[in-house]
Amino acid sequence: QEDIFKNVVSHAKEYGFIFPSSEVYDGLSAVYDYAQNGVELKKNIREYWWKSMVQMNENIVGLDAAILMHPTTWKASGHVDAFNDPLIDNKDSKKRYRADVLVEDYAEKLNQKAQKEIEKARARFGDAFNEQEFVTTNARVIEYLSKYKEILSRLAKGMSDDLQDVKALIEELEIADPETGSKNWTDVKQFNLMFGTKLGASADSAMDLYLRPETAQGIFVNFLNVQKSGRMKIPFGIAQTGKAFRNEIVARQFIFRMREFEQMEMQFFVRPGEEMKWYHHWKETRLNWHLSLGLGKENYRFHDHEKLAHYANAAADIEFNFPFGFKELEGIHSRTDFDLKAHEEYSGRKLQYFDPELNENYVPYVVETSVGLDRMFLAVFATSLKEEVLEDGSTRTVLKLPSVLAPTKVAILPLVKKDGLPDIAKKIIDDLKWDFTVAYDEKDAVGRRYRRQDALGTPFCVTVDHQTIEDQTVTIRHRDTMKQDRVKISELKDIIENEVSM
Ligand code: GAP
Repeated sequence: QEDIFKNVVSHAKEYGFIFPSSEVYDGLSAVYDYAQNGVELKKNIREYWWKSMVQMNENIVGLDAAILMHPTTWKASGHVDAFNDPLIDNKDSKKRYRADVLVEDYAEKLNQKAQKEIEKARARFGDAFNEQEFVTTNARVIEYLSKYKEILSRLAKGMSDDLQDVKALIEELEIADPETGSKNWTDVKQFNLMFGTKLGASADSAMDLYLRPETAQGIFVNFLNVQKSGRMKIPFGIAQTGKAFRNEIVARQFIFRMREFEQMEMQFFVRPGEEMKWYHHWKETRLNWHLSLGLGKENYRFHDHEKLAHYANAAADIEFNFPFGFKELEGIHSRTDFDLKAHEEYSGRKLQYFDPELNENYVPYVVETSVGLDRMFLAVFATSLKEEVLEDGSTRTVLKLPSVLAPTKVAILPLVKKDGLPDIAKKIIDDLKWDFTVAYDEKDAVGRRYRRQDALGTPFCVTVDHQTIEDQTVTIRHRDTMKQDRVKISELKDIIENEVSM
């Protein structure tokens, strides 16, 4: 699995999808740049989301709020007081860690030991193996798994009650600094994840601001503006995509956890008391959206939260099977009237809706769907990257992206660089580029050009050859099947459109 992940990271760089930020200066930790192909894939994911949320729902409209917001926003939202990570320092190495992650990693190791025992037994007993029986009778596995579960439940409790419980747990388990082995720890301290900045030049009049840690608050503070100017009737939603910033301490796993990332969020405003109906509606709707990409049903699962954030009365994650295991991809939260009420309180302005059917004013409840665009990118990219062994024993690397998301939809390849074939190829491009992203490639043997387009995820390659001059036909090759058909140039648009349109 580690190898698969390394492959994903190096493929993303080699083929122009993702580069480390400011790499000439050795990069900036947990910050990445999207390159020529990455930017197209990312844009297509964003559009696929936007289309399904905004275009397909007459009661959801879009918004693009500023990244910088009045600082009181973050007092009201609870981020100034409660958006913290628990940190612990090692006194010897002076290294800083997230206390909960140290314990989680330790627990995960126990889980992995148990899984290894299970795999060993499966290999030994073959068809006769009964996993259920094995995990309930094998002493070692019972010990690993029960300790794993106990640690996780104590961690969940410790985080909500008392941070020093986590420190006690680190000491009790004798968890060492992963880099130096030292067990000499400080107390656990809270660390706020928001990035601070300043508005204004002069030292005394400058105002302390934050870069937004979520896009949601831009929607909450605009709720009444949108409702009134758009004459929206509850239930209705406001959708937004945009950058968010978090000073993450444990920055690892490539674009899974970044310091600057993009969210795609939708806040759905409902009548108080109807929130659970909508919460279930959006859980199901969002899972179906993910499934529509065809990455495999088995790669998704719900994780219903027992421990709830300060603003929620119900919450679930859609988890995805990343190369490093099942992890959160999207959050669906029933946020009650927490945010709007808080903004009312801090701003002194009413944020209420007059419901003509009930003939009363109220502060709506909110159900939110929030998915990380970069995490979506990683899920799609990692799952699509395949090494295939072909019939002749050779291998090919192919990025089997959902065609609607592919950065380039079709590559036009003249078989040779002469006899007027490049001119015909360029004419075809001039025709198709109004509707699709098109690439041109005339370098190397055509087989190698096919492989390059496979690695970039291009669903179609069109080859112009000498027969094209005679009869205006070309070959069209399909990425996944490698099947080639002879078709008329005039048919290309429909064939491609049929497969790649959203
Ligand atoms: N408004 C709710 C909210 O922000 P969240 O669970 O903190 O909820 C929502 O974040 C989604 O944003 C996550 O499910 C994840 O996909 C993405 N996300 C959060 N932190 C991230 C980070 N540091 N890097 C990349 N994506 C992140």
